[in-house]
Amino acid sequence: MKQIVTGLILFLLTIGNTLSAQDQNFNKSWLFFNDKAEGAEKVQFDDSSWRKLDLPHDWAIEGPFDSKYNARCGGLPFHGIGWYRKHFLIPESAKGKVVRIEFEGAMYDAYVWVNGKLVGNHPYGYIGFEFDISQYLNYGQDNIIAVRLTPQDLSSRWYPGAGIYRNTWLKIDEAVHVAHWGTYITTPTVTDQKATVQNETTIENKNNQEATITVIQEYFSPEGKSVGKTEETMTIPAHSSKVSGTWCNIKEPKRWDLATPHLYRAVTSIEQNGKILDSYQTRFGIRHISYNKDGFYLNGRKIRFNGVCLHHDNGALGAAVYRRADERKLQIMKDMGVNAIRTSHNPPSKELLELCDEMGLLVQDEAFDVWSMPKVPNGYNVFFNEWAERDIKDMVKRDRNHPSIVMWSIGNEILEQKDKKYGWKTAKMLNDYVKEMDKTRPTTAGFNHYSGPYDNNMAQQVDIAGMNYKPTKYGEVRDNYPNLPIYGSETSSCTSSRGVYHLPIEKYKTHESLHVSSYDLIGPPWAYPPDIEFHFQEQYPHSMGEFIWTGFDYLGEPTPYGGKDNSTNGYWNGDWPVHSSYFGAVDLCGFPKDRFFLYQSQWTSKPMIHLLPHWNWKGMEGQNIPVYCYTNCDEAELFLNGKSMGKKVKGKDLTELKVDFLRYEPKTFMSKYRLSWDVPYAAGELKVVGYKNGQAVQEKIIHTAGKPAKISLSVDRKNIDASGTDLAYVTVRIEDKNGNLCPTADNQIFFKLRGAGSLIAVDNGNQASLESFQANHRKAFSGMALAIIKSTETAGNIQLTATSKGLKSAKVVIISK
Ligand code: GAL
Repeated sequence: MKQIVTGLILFLLTIGNTLSAQDQNFNKSWLFFNDKAEGAEKVQFDDSSWRKLDLPHDWAIEGPFDSKYNARCGGLPFHGIGWYRKHFLIPESAKGKVVRIEFEGAMYDAYVWVNGKLVGNHPYGYIGFEFDISQYLNYGQDNIIAVRLTPQDLSSRWYPGAGIYRNTWLKIDEAVHVAHWGTYITTPTVTDQKATVQNETTIENKNNQEATITVIQEYFSPEGKSVGKTEETMTIPAHSSKVSGTWCNIKEPKRWDLATPHLYRAVTSIEQNGKILDSYQTRFGIRHISYNKDGFYLNGRKIRFNGVCLHHDNGALGAAVYRRADERKLQIMKDMGVNAIRTSHNPPSKELLELCDEMGLLVQDEAFDVWSMPKVPNGYNVFFNEWAERDIKDMVKRDRNHPSIVMWSIGNEILEQKDKKYGWKTAKMLNDYVKEMDKTRPTTAGFNHYSGPYDNNMAQQVDIAGMNYKPTKYGEVRDNYPNLPIYGSETSSCTSSRGVYHLPIEKYKTHESLHVSSYDLIGPPWAYPPDIEFHFQEQYPHSMGEFIWTGFDYLGEPTPYGGKDNSTNGYWNGDWPVHSSYFGAVDLCGFPKDRFFLYQSQWTSKPMIHLLPHWNWKGMEGQNIPVYCYTNCDEAELFLNGKSMGKKVKGKDLTELKVDFLRYEPKTFMSKYRLSWDVPYAAGELKVVGYKNGQAVQEKIIHTAGKPAKISLSVDRKNIDASGTDLAYVTVRIEDKNGNLCPTADNQIFFKLRGAGSLIAVDNGNQASLESFQANHRKAFSGMALAIIKSTETAGNIQLTATSKGLKSAKVVIISK
């Protein structure tokens, strides 16, 4: 149970945005108890029966789903009390040093005790915190840390997760060291010849005497070559901190950009009498951003946001942080043509931001979904007055070295929009807090009211006004507020279930199947098909682009089922067992829905073509089936069983969409973004060919599938790291004997895993499934399912076998090195 904390200089990771050489991962060997535990903060407390686990951990994802929990929050047990304890040795040699414990995120309202003494509290689950625990420790002996979390019912509009769900670190430093999130690197001048790098590093002196030290900043190119160095000698009085401000010119800088996300590294060393007291590294990028009423510019080039809003959960894995899960998520988004992420509606994990830096994605980092006026009774509103300043400043401090971040959002759909007297003042206050920490990026907020926040001076408090679901107002805002830069901070909110098609096409509110047809038309009253936003973005090129709601399906908020709107404070269990969202362009597994391809057709240029629906309509022979094609080709020709159904020209041949959303007068929209045919059904082969400049460049074929005959497995990566945290995603398909996907198959699949890994989650993207994410079986949904495998720390082969009654089984082998 005891983990020995060894030497001071353990490792200097090369990944990670900011890290000190002395940081030790503190995730292993915790004890967990999910209930009230009288006296669990005390040293003598008997924890021998508690469950042993490693962090990051989300207890709620373990389930079970139950209608006694709010479907709005995923129908999972995320509220209650969670206790974590850990026994650890601190070496005698750490005496006289500064020992800190850092939590990158704990959900929610964390209280932390060390050896029975309360060391601090931090309510907001989405921003990390650290405590100096030096004075509470027993040096050369056993120590006990206890953490209590109390996430509340009715505290969130989506699934928040529960537990110490991000990484933890133990830091043993000399008394003089770089402060927490202590570096701030900006690049005020960037030209082809040189970049000026400005570095403000906060250094703490926890000694009883003043300290004279030299701060050495050395800069390394993306290739790891030293490209600049500065030194500053300074004296820091006892028990205080000081900022070392230096600048350095870097010749011929490689700019951070979307296609070339070059990253530099600064290594900060604190030297005293020839001894290095601390060494801390910060990754940063050299890039230039600007904006005006006509748009947003990256390195001088106008960029429009092809953006997605993303919640923080990773589907079946819950809220627990896995770097690979975020990487896969972002890669899928990039494949759709995404260039920007809005971290709705809270600061994301450090990993997500590091990945955006590495993958060339722009980020809007959002602080809050609520200020002091509640959306749900026990939300962050309870803590806002006391904590908002600290939390928003911490967000900026934590994140301001990420080149990917290009905007700070002070809030989403804040109810203070209505408050003429105080709304703008709170907005100004938060905006000022952000500017105090970083003046190099614009601020924003997502406003869903119109024209309230523009008339009551709230929208004017931020640099860029985000408009949620108001494409029809982009022109009016331009006319009335000609200098206000704008963009669609939340758009579309179209809903669908992967692979589900209801005929005839209807714009219904809900459907008895508890699913939503995937013809990409249906949504709640404020929602509209993606096409409408495309249209208005084209009409108003001064809009900086859009962030769709949402890139991925997420746990909770199962609109159009279960609940009404943002002001529904109660439970959303009216359509149980529905418990996860339909808004994603991809489902909870990460499998693309049709909408993924509609965005891809608008946001990418490499020829692509997509066809819907599936072609299994037994009993409907001779009846017209609407067939939609999403493509970025110039023309497309459809063939049924070899016979042409006609060629259609993109931009000329329009598809009529039923539209019915607030403040939009025509109830129909002639879309140039989709091609369509009415095809009398006959089983067989439906094929579409895409042409560019008259040449056939892409095709897509859908066959009528026969009876389910076999399982097919494919893995996203054949080789993974034996790190104990790496993941392999295995896609499961139910196929007929010819290898066609059986589009309505729901066979139960059983998994068996052997070797150097574990099966940690299964899913199928069905928003109404109550099967456990942690079972060793899963039904297929629309013919597909997913198995997620985690490596162990031992290298070796991992073999996953999938079986199902009456089907030929399948096997996949993954190598963990
Ligand atoms: C918005 C809100 C989002 C989500 C979305 C669903 O109003 O900001 O968090 O609830 O609606 O359409």
